Amino acid sequence: MLLRALAREPLARPPVWLMRQAGRYMDEYQAIRSRVDFLTLCKTPELAAEVSLQPLRAFDVDAVIMFCDILIPCEAMGMTLHFGDGGPRFETPVRSAADVARLAIPDPHARMGFVGDLLRLLRHELRQQPQTALIGFAGAPWTLAAYMIEGGGSRHFMHLKQMLYNEPAVLRQLLDKLSETIIAYLGAQIEAGAQAVQLFDTWAGIVDAPTYRAFIQPSVARIVEAIGDKAPVTLYVNGSPHLLEAMAQTGVDCVSVDWLTPLSDARARLGPNLALQGNLDPVALLAGPDVVRGLALELLSEGGARGFIANVGHGLLPQTPRENVRLLVDTIRDSARLLATGASHGV
Ligand code: CP3
Repeated sequence: MLLRALAREPLARPPVWLMRQAGRYMDEYQAIRSRVDFLTLCKTPELAAEVSLQPLRAFDVDAVIMFCDILIPCEAMGMTLHFGDGGPRFETPVRSAADVARLAIPDPHARMGFVGDLLRLLRHELRQQPQTALIGFAGAPWTLAAYMIEGGGSRHFMHLKQMLYNEPAVLRQLLDKLSETIIAYLGAQIEAGAQAVQLFDTWAGIVDAPTYRAFIQPSVARIVEAIGDKAPVTLYVNGSPHLLEAMAQTGVDCVSVDWLTPLSDARARLGPNLALQGNLDPVALLAGPDVVRGLALELLSEGGARGFIANVGHGLLPQTPRENVRLLVDTIRDSARLLATGASHGV
């Protein structure tokens, strides 16, 4: 169903899955995490498969996203990564041309074989339910560069922007290396069974559209071109109202919209020839059930019947009440009936 929505086929209802649908808001995730640290979980295919499948069992979502993290390939490029309570940390950030030169372009089979193993396990688990799609993913070059240069999360991205303004050629070299790494990595994921892939460019919204077009868009377009028709590609950027057209021009099949742009606006701006995904504010899922149900119905009417994938505008938060996730998913799944009877206005 997800694949059909990505191909913009007409459907009785939109498919639904949720960014960060697996994670700390689920007790069954916490049970596994109490035994292993986050990176061990990512690198142990049996455990990662179990966690990937938890939201399918709990909510019957239409797609499973492999459980991993966008920073895994940076480790394979030669960086030392830690995950603590404060989020991800790289021991030695990338700050110079020499630092960029030291980074490897890893063979995904040799250095990230656990991701292929995970996808093969998931495809095996899903063999009886072909309607459930399997999604692979990668961080986009700019967002990976942001973490590698800052050494972790950041408020102002001062080191990244200093490199952008003072040493743009060095930044371009880093983005090029990352593009090559991601092309090979996503290729391996598709070979191992990923049916659709998503590029997370979480931090691309921190620059204006001309800078996006000059630095970020080419690195994404190169990946999209290399994947070609091997699998549909979705692109997510947080804080993207000024970038939607430029995102679409990378050639992706689907633009994942954050909650700042109404989906009807995104549709009017981007036209009918690509799929849209999004865009419920994940913080709204901390509200009461009536609010959540109302927003789910609004999402349906905003998204339309064709080329739309119901989702959140950014990842689910650890504080999300599980009943609200169920209510959101159920409301979208029941919408075939609503849509058929015209009970929900405008869809
Ligand atoms: O969507 C899914 O269910 C698949 C798994 C997934 C995770 N991270 C698991 C995770 C995916 C697709 C990601 C992507 C990711 N990772 C992004 C892009 C999307 C976004 O959220 O903007 C980014 C920026 C990262 C880097 C990252 N990973 C950060 C900044 C953090 C710490 C912040 C936080 O939420 O804790 C992580 C950790 C992380 N990645 C967790 C999970 C479930 C929490 C780890 C834990 O159990 O302690």
